[in-house]
Amino acid sequence: MTEIVEVPLEGREYQVRIGAGLLARAGVEIAPFLHRPRVAIVSDENVAALHLGALQSALSAEGIESTALTLPAGESTKQWPEFTRTVEWLLEQKVERRDIVIALGGGVIGDLVGFAAAVLRRGVRFVQIPTSLLAQVDSSVGGKTGINAPQGKNLIGAFHQPTLVLADIGVLGTLKKRDFLAGYGEVVKYGLLGDATFFDWLEDNATAAAEGDLAARAYAVKRSVEMKAEIVLRDETEQGDRALLNLGHTFCHAFEAATGYSDRLLHGEGVAIGCAMAFELSSRLGLCSQEDPSRVRAHLKDMGMKADLSDIEGDLPDAQTLLDLMGQDKKVVDGQLRFILARGIGEAFVTSDVPQDKVLTLLQEQLAAR
Ligand code: GLY
Repeated sequence: MTEIVEVPLEGREYQVRIGAGLLARAGVEIAPFLHRPRVAIVSDENVAALHLGALQSALSAEGIESTALTLPAGESTKQWPEFTRTVEWLLEQKVERRDIVIALGGGVIGDLVGFAAAVLRRGVRFVQIPTSLLAQVDSSVGGKTGINAPQGKNLIGAFHQPTLVLADIGVLGTLKKRDFLAGYGEVVKYGLLGDATFFDWLEDNATAAAEGDLAARAYAVKRSVEMKAEIVLRDETEQGDRALLNLGHTFCHAFEAATGYSDRLLHGEGVAIGCAMAFELSSRLGLCSQEDPSRVRAHLKDMGMKADLSDIEGDLPDAQTLLDLMGQDKKVVDGQLRFILARGIGEAFVTSDVPQDKVLTLLQEQLAAR
């Protein structure tokens, strides 16, 4: 069964379709959007080896011709050289204004291809076929596209909404457990930021989802996408509420920078630790009960996830350096660090009013516990 989440942005409405087997139906799903039976696909080497053949067969079964560019896998692809290569390849393929470009892959491919589509001929349409849990619940929805700069992640980009998102739950079966759980860090974030009932559901069902239960996976993805769509609808360009989606991210960005954006800490793992710390900070500031951070940490540990700084292997810099790294986050406004804190599970809010000494103490204690 295909679940549909509508993203009714005026003039740029689109659907996120969620279900097992969507990749094999991609031709049928995409055909109505085409002006001519031809698409260009961009993927990465790992994903292409697993899923490109299935996608191209599904397209040709509907008489849709396709060409494909396969980029190296990994975060280092999300930079100018591969971006330039992609844009020039799309031009060589004679992609026209009314054509569709397909992004087949995880967050790196989705962000890079979305940005290429945003600037190619001043904007062509694109379809996201996210193949990682993280991309299905976060990066493929909402229109943030872009690449990294030497100065930081995602600093070059554009808002460009996709025309359609096909989230095939079945392809999640090819993910390594660690990658699935890293994506789960973003799923749990939705419960924590705005839906306590969803967090309750996750406490009861997320283990089944991690173990491969398709119905549990479909519900977890659908509820996450619904929440993201609601927030994007209220605040597409992040003037306010969209920042809620960054729960845990101010901490996370500092930890990712401190670990060199390496395998030591995957983005979703950093988000999970960051969420636990945001709740700990909220509790210390008297905003939520002491039980809330314990509950968050207990759930992450039940899932076999990283929950504390002590779960990151290897050396970390001192607390002041981590705090300084937080200050380099692009969400800093007028030099003020913005945090997403919570009044309870499912009740997050955005604030700049956080005493830095409290953050420093929390970091010092977490580092001392390592
Ligand atoms: N990943 C955060 C956002 O889309 O706003």
